Amino acid sequence: MIRLLINGQSHEVDAEPDTPLLWAIRENVGLTGTKYGCGIAQCGACTVHIDGVAARSCSIRVSDAVGKQITTVEGLAQNGVLHRVQKAWLEHDVPQCGYCQSGMMMAVAALLKEKPKPTDADIDATITNICRCGTYQRVRAAIHAAANA
Ligand code: FES
Ligand code: FES
Repeated sequence: MIRLLINGQSHEVDAEPDTPLLWAIRENVGLTGTKYGCGIAQCGACTVHIDGVAARSCSIRVSDAVGKQITTVEGLAQNGVLHRVQKAWLEHDVPQCGYCQSGMMMAVAALLKEKPKPTDADIDATITNICRCGTYQRVRAAIHAAANA
């Protein structure tokens, strides 16, 4: 058994040490907001925070996440209050199909913690998540709105 701390709660997970963290989050713990896209750290659909830093959970061994604070999109809102990134996403109607968007929001939330007022160049360098629906312009507008909220 492997013990994981996800969204402030402890979970015992029956998984092999080299199981991708994404599968433990989705299959063992049942938090399905974190998505599988590519499985090779390229698309960002599986982005979570590990100790506050954005990480692509498809490419992290579950054993490497032990003892760390893992936050998924389900843990982004605090005490029933949406995170400013979630509010900006709603206000700008960012998602199309929505599949990439939980990973997108997690990447953006981590960026804003690091850089409260990111430039377009910062966004281009950091938000490398892939959106097959092409929501990139709305993502950019919503990032600036969240930064100014
Ligand atoms: S599923 Fe993890 S980066 Fe694509
Ligand atoms: S909203 Fe459909 S993949 Fe991004």
